[in-house]
Amino acid sequence: MGAAGPSRGAGPCACACAERTDEAAVAADTCAIIVAGGSGERFGDPRGKQFVNLAGLPLMSWSIMAFDRAPSVARIVIVCAPDRAAQVEKDVLSRLSLAKPVALAPSGETRQESVRHGLDATPRDLPLVAVHDAARPLIEVEQIEAACGAVRADESLAGAILATRSVDTLKLVEGTTIVATPDRSFYWAAQTPQVFRRRVLLAAHKAAAHEDYQGTDDASLVERMGGKVRVVESTRDNIKVTLPEDLALAEATLERRLLA
Ligand code: CTP
Ligand code: MG
Repeated sequence: MGAAGPSRGAGPCACACAERTDEAAVAADTCAIIVAGGSGERFGDPRGKQFVNLAGLPLMSWSIMAFDRAPSVARIVIVCAPDRAAQVEKDVLSRLSLAKPVALAPSGETRQESVRHGLDATPRDLPLVAVHDAARPLIEVEQIEAACGAVRADESLAGAILATRSVDTLKLVEGTTIVATPDRSFYWAAQTPQVFRRRVLLAAHKAAAHEDYQGTDDASLVERMGGKVRVVESTRDNIKVTLPEDLALAEATLERRLLA
């Protein structure tokens, strides 16, 4: 696998969907990295949550299709366990008619390592990378474009991430005792995609690996290097399928969209 992994479909999309009509106006300057190399322990299905059926397709198919339709995206790297690569090819990619070239990269022990492997498989000539969890099947083209557009529009930014404002009152707790109630208006919940200038994210990942730092998302690696990362307000629809009950919610949202 790796940069020399399977590649497919470089031709233009035949579909005449609305997102494509603007394509000429937007730079296709982004490589998507879709990380699908986790074991889904909390979800608990032996097939792996990225492969379970969601509205008729393996769950990871939905985010791949969204990135394939996004005008900013020129290529897609899918990170998966090496022993699942054939399954990704057969059960996922061969069932989708994708317009963009797709390569596979091998996953690592941690999500962070998987992203790093994905980054190594991105081409140097695309200045932006958009890191996305395969476990977030409800991502929409407009949200991908908003995050890519935010980085493109502001040279001072190292990156931009989708996030939602915190709706719950937050408590800082030690043991079971509340020690503070911070001002909720300062808190946002991070999602993916997280879009960065490729060279900045690569440097941040190299530094984190060198210093043995494990972050909980990619933005945190860039922030600790002093990079400016902004939030782009997202919707609560863009859930990460983590527990079995999340699947029914994702299914209901997709069906609502497909019927709209
Ligand atoms: N991921 C990855 N490589 C890893 C771990 C996670 O590519 N070593 C991916 C997952 O496939 C998922 C995304 O990172 O798309 C977010 O991770 P998470 O929701 O935590 O998925 P899992 O790690 O698979 O689930 P769990 O933590 O319950 O085992
Ligand atoms: Mg995990």
